[in-house]
Order: sequence, then structure tokens, then C-alpha cells
Amino acid sequence: MIEKLARKSALTITPYQPGKPIEEVARELGMPEEDIVKMASNENPLGASPMGIQAIKDAAEKVGLYPDGGCYYLKQDLAKHLDVASENLILGNGSNEVLMIIADTFVNPEDETLYAEQSFVVYMLATKVSGATAVTVPLKNYTHDLEAIADKITDKTKVIFIANPNNPTGTMVTADEVKRFMDRVPDHVIVVFDEAYYEYVERDDFPNTVEYVREGRSVVTLRTFSKIYGLAGLRIGYGITTPEIVKILDKVRQPFNVNAVAQAAAIASLKDKEHVEKSVKVNSEGKKYLYEKLEEMGLEYVPSEGNFMLVHLNQSGADVMAEMLKEGVIVRPMKGYKFPESVRITIGTKEQNDKLLTALKKVLGK
Ligand SMILES: Cc1ncc(COP(=O)(O)O)c(C=O)c1O
Repeated sequence: MIEKLARKSALTITPYQPGKPIEEVARELGMPEEDIVKMASNENPLGASPMGIQAIKDAAEKVGLYPDGGCYYLKQDLAKHLDVASENLILGNGSNEVLMIIADTFVNPEDETLYAEQSFVVYMLATKVSGATAVTVPLKNYTHDLEAIADKITDKTKVIFIANPNNPTGTMVTADEVKRFMDRVPDHVIVVFDEAYYEYVERDDFPNTVEYVREGRSVVTLRTFSKIYGLAGLRIGYGITTPEIVKILDKVRQPFNVNAVAQAAAIASLKDKEHVEKSVKVNSEGKKYLYEKLEEMGLEYVPSEGNFMLVHLNQSGADVMAEMLKEGVIVRPMKGYKFPESVRITIGTKEQNDKLLTALKKVLGK
């Protein structure tokens, strides 16, 4: 039995279930790919910026060479963009990889990690790979309950993961809440603020967690090029933290963890402010439009600060998802996140939102 040879902690893992790729749905349902819209993985419906795509083409010429393992030029540009030093940055093959590197570096089997019960599933995966104990705290009104999380800190707590805005609920914790929380976090605990959807946030009471890094607290702020920058397929994200933490993470990180094409695309995408602004606008308008139309249909949803929203259906989300696939719309059922009667939908372009609403109406018989 090969299982006997595996780490016990590895066998406890249920593999991550990604949103269905368009190609798979096309194959299974015999539909042309162009007729299918994916609103299941919180990608940017506008895709990458034209400048990013040009950089990808240019970088293709040089893929015979290994990438710059230190991401020198990208770090310089990001440092300027974020008003931090290059030494504050760690790049990853998606911010997902940075999460895994943090766990691999800091979390021992006897440690505890702490996070919300209904939050990004990779916190659970990272904990299990480390063989550590996950301590989870229920959401309160779909939102991280930072007071309850702080109450659960023990001597064994090593890392706290906070998705802000939260996936899959789209809710956020405020600057004041985070301040009160950070006042209660002891020195032996590393706090990871996972801000994958940061650029979409419209409220002005969102925390500036990089300030805690500047103060020298053990905080890692995670951001990504997968969402607003439309580079999900290239896998590139980053952490902003203290130089001391970066140095230790760098020991564990693979030497060439971020590929050359992704680095070039990220550098160019960062410069294309127009594409970012357009993406924010499309999302903001799409969100309001979907709110209005969902209300007209009598459906409840959770107001979101991200590029997605949780919609309640009062019936099996998995069944509705399967029926919507036949209409060429891919959404994400939420049973795995303990919302069995909900789906999470990514906010799309006007055209995509209309296609989604038409499919949803048909499937729900509205
Ligand atoms: C909260 C959260 N964190 C991290 C990620 C991972 O992003 P990346 O593509 O940078 O690995 C996602 C992706 O959906 C997410 O929702």
C-alpha cells in the first residue's frame, strides 16, 4: 500500500476543486467554447491588459533561459507602486504559493493555525500539509469575527489567515476592527492578510495592513496579479512583509518559482493604470446591475467588496450549477464552503451578466 509511505497529513487532504474550465464544459456538453462563459473563479472578465499581452509575446522569445529568480525588476516596480522597499517583497507562483511557503516555513505539526470557518480553502490545505491543527471560527453575519478569532489565540497559534475581502462571501473587515484585533495579537503569531481582491474594494474604511509591516509587526499582506490584472493563467502573486520574514521565506521558496513570462507580464500590467481603472469600473457597474436584477428576481445575496458575490437560491446550489452549465454559464456551487443552497458568481461584463441572469431565470423557472 503506497499510502503507508505518504505523510499522514497528506492523506487527510481533499484536493482543491477548481471552477470548471471552459474546455471541459465544451467537451462534456458538446458546445462550442465561444458559447460558454465562466463566472466561477473570480477572474477578470476583460482579461489581461493589452500592454501585459504584448509583454507576454516579447518574453516568449526568451523562454530558453531561466527566469530571474530574485524578480529584481518586478520587485523594483512593485516597491515603488506600494511605497515599500524591494526587501519587503516575496513573489510567488500565484499568491497561493506564497501561502504555502508561509506554512512550509513557519508551521510545525505541533502548531495551530487560525482562520474563519468559511474562508479561502487553501488555508486548510496549507495547514494539513504542515500536519498542524486548524482552529476555525464561524463567520458573523458572513464576515470575519475578529474578536472571536482573537479569543482563540493560544501559545500554539502560529499563523492567522484573514481573507479581506473574504472569499466566498465578499465581505470585509474595517480598519478599526483590524486595529483592535492587532492590539490583541501577541508576538509569536504571524498574521496573513490575504487581499487578493484589494483593488476592487470600494468602501473607504478598508484597512492599510502594509502599515503594520512598516511598524515591524509579523504581518504578511498578500496581493495577486490573478484578479484585477487579469493574469490568473500565468500564476503570479506576492507578499509584503518585513525583510526578516522575507529572508526566511526565501530559504524555502524554490529558486525559480516565478516564471519569466509572468514577471514580464506583471511589470507591464502594473504600468497599465487605464486597464485597472476600466476593470474596477466594469466590476462596480456589474455589481450594482446584478444587485438590482437579483432583487427583482427575489433572490438574496451578500453585498460584496470583491469581483464576485454569494447568491442564495433556497435549493441545491450544485443542482442549479449543473443546470446552468447546460445554458453555457459556469458558476461555483458552495457546498464545500457550507453554503449548500448558494452559488458564487463572478461579476462579468454587461453581456456576461445578462447571459448569467437569463440562464438563472430559466433554471429557477422565474
Ligand atoms: C482569498 C484568495 N486568496 C488567494 C487566492 C489565490 O490567488 P492566486 O491566483 O494569486 O494564487 C484566491 C483565488 O481565488 C482567493 O480567493
